[in-house]
Amino acid sequence: MNKIKIGLIGAGRIGTFHGTTVAKRLENTELVAISDPFKLNAEKLASELKVNKVYENPNDLLADDEVEAVIIATPAKTHSSLVIAAAKANKSVFCEKPMATNLKDANNVINVVQNAGVKLQIGFNRRFVDEFKQAENEIRQKCIGKPQTLRSLTRDPVLNNAEKIPKWTIFLETLIHDFDTLNFLNPDAIPVSVYASADALIRPDLKEHGLLDTAIVTIKYSNGAIAIAEASFQAVYGYDVRAEVLGLEGMLKMGSSSVNSMIRYTKGGVNFDTSRKDTDLLFNAYVNEMHQFSNDVKYDNISSPTGEDAKKALAIALACIESVKKNSEAIVEL
Ligand SMILES: NC(=O)c1ccc[n+]([C@@H]2O[C@H](COP(=O)([O-])OP(=O)(O)OC[C@H]3O[C@@H](n4cnc5c(N)ncnc54)[C@H](O)[C@@H]3O)[C@@H](O)[C@H]2O)c1
Repeated sequence: MNKIKIGLIGAGRIGTFHGTTVAKRLENTELVAISDPFKLNAEKLASELKVNKVYENPNDLLADDEVEAVIIATPAKTHSSLVIAAAKANKSVFCEKPMATNLKDANNVINVVQNAGVKLQIGFNRRFVDEFKQAENEIRQKCIGKPQTLRSLTRDPVLNNAEKIPKWTIFLETLIHDFDTLNFLNPDAIPVSVYASADALIRPDLKEHGLLDTAIVTIKYSNGAIAIAEASFQAVYGYDVRAEVLGLEGMLKMGSSSVNSMIRYTKGGVNFDTSRKDTDLLFNAYVNEMHQFSNDVKYDNISSPTGEDAKKALAIALACIESVKKNSEAIVEL
């Protein structure tokens, strides 16, 4: 079987997970090169995964003819220029969210990728969680009628290295998952306006340095639906991802903080195990998204979530930043 030969750009936390998926968890992929300016990161991962080629500069990986497709798992501000460079080098791209941090860059990415005719998939992993996928399908089939109210939340178990978190991360990198989830679960509707409340409730001492660690956002959609997205960087019980859609004919609830379906009933009470990491709670979703990407490259399928999906979620995040700055409702500019 011809394996899809993939290069990894960014050998940090999520790059290590994706690289391991490509090298070990999928049958139709091979990890052939790793690039990271912090060469030790790349070399360590390359030796673990038995990858021969290590590049400090991502342009050298992009110039490697053996590489058919790349995974971009670098810090957010580098994504748009790397996707553009990869597309111009005729490589298909899996890019972690956010695809860009402003709309001009997002539009550039979409145009360059379209002109190059390469695949682009964005790392919105919730679309690959079974129950979220099923919910979207049932919503499209009108099983619960027209969506009226929607909710999506993301909670991390612990706030580490708070001093190093770039400004607006809660919207651009965390809630962007929820914005995409809400867009996904309210198909064909367009986000119109947002009101965002955000604060540094976990580390109030860092508020003056720009940290926002807690946020609640209300989003109004073109079909009349109203959605709430919520994020916290510290929910001590574990990583937590959930969503809910209420329609005229019923309600769908998805997600859990439980790592599996076992519930422990003892005289001490009732409990279940939670996870400390997104890659544990959403393990299958992370693997499934990469499996889809490699199949799309192999069989020349149209890939998704698309650049347009990424732009729609980004537009909500940018409107949230406006809303916080003005302390009022902000229009979603698409
Ligand atoms: N989809 C998800 O659930 C999910 C989860 C975690 C992270 N992410 C996203 O993935 C991205 C990376 O996050 P992380 O937690 O792995 O960060 P990280 O800091 O652990 O890793 C980033 C790596 O990229 C390297 N790097 C920086 N600039 C580079 C460049 N120009 N070329 C190549 N490598 C470069 C760094 O040296 C580092 O090793 C972020 O955008 C983040 O939002 C997504």
